[in-house]
Amino acid sequence: MTYNFSSYQEKYKSREETIINMYDRLYHRSRIDGDYITMSAIQADDNGGLLPKSELSQLLSSKFLTADQFHGVDIDSETIEINKRLGIGNWYVSDIFKFIENHIDDLNPSVINLDTVHMGNRCSDLISEVLLLLTEKNIKNCMVPVNIMMSNPHNKIPIHKIDVNEQKDVFLSNLSKDYGYSCAVLNGGWDMWDEVYYYSSTNSTIMGTFIFYS
Ligand SMILES: C[S@@+](CC[C@H](N)C(=O)[O-])C[C@H]1O[C@@H](n2cnc3c(N)ncnc32)[C@H](O)[C@@H]1O
Repeated sequence: MTYNFSSYQEKYKSREETIINMYDRLYHRSRIDGDYITMSAIQADDNGGLLPKSELSQLLSSKFLTADQFHGVDIDSETIEINKRLGIGNWYVSDIFKFIENHIDDLNPSVINLDTVHMGNRCSDLISEVLLLLTEKNIKNCMVPVNIMMSNPHNKIPIHKIDVNEQKDVFLSNLSKDYGYSCAVLNGGWDMWDEVYYYSSTNSTIMGTFIFYS
């Protein structure tokens, strides 16, 4: 089964704030020189056109990149088959970490968008694995935005009762105890932007974007 995560307004605004504006804030650049790697979801319509407000459409129209710099990865093969109909961009069926591991020597990542649909406890391993690999490969000037769920969609707690700051503290405390993450910070000079950007996702969970950068 595939889901269309792409075309809603909150997501569009979050990409503008946490990717385009944040990159400019960190590196004083309105476009990237290297590659953009993302967990993609569906970005094409039935006729092979770009979905309005999709990630690739937004990044192209804001001139943040050109299509050949865009590498969309998804674990779901149907999603990638649909995206390939676009005829632009680069599309791969893979687990995101395996993709980075297998292609890192051929790519020059400027942004790696870890756009997960998991709670923080499931993302710590991914974050530390990716940052450690980038550290080993001596990758610099790279921004890694990570989207994580701050509320569990299976809990029946009303959204206004969720304490995002508490969730954030638990996530950061777990991450700081992660040996791989500590090694990456120490040896690779990775830092985390102080502010977390919150937005609501299609199934009314609260998402938080944490920005890692070197
Ligand atoms: C939130 S959506 C991506 C949205 C897209 N980046 C955007 O901005 O519109 C997350 C996607 O990641 C895919 N996914 C989940 N686990 C994955 C994994 N381990 N590796 C690669 N893709 C994965 C899901 O199938 C889903 O399509």
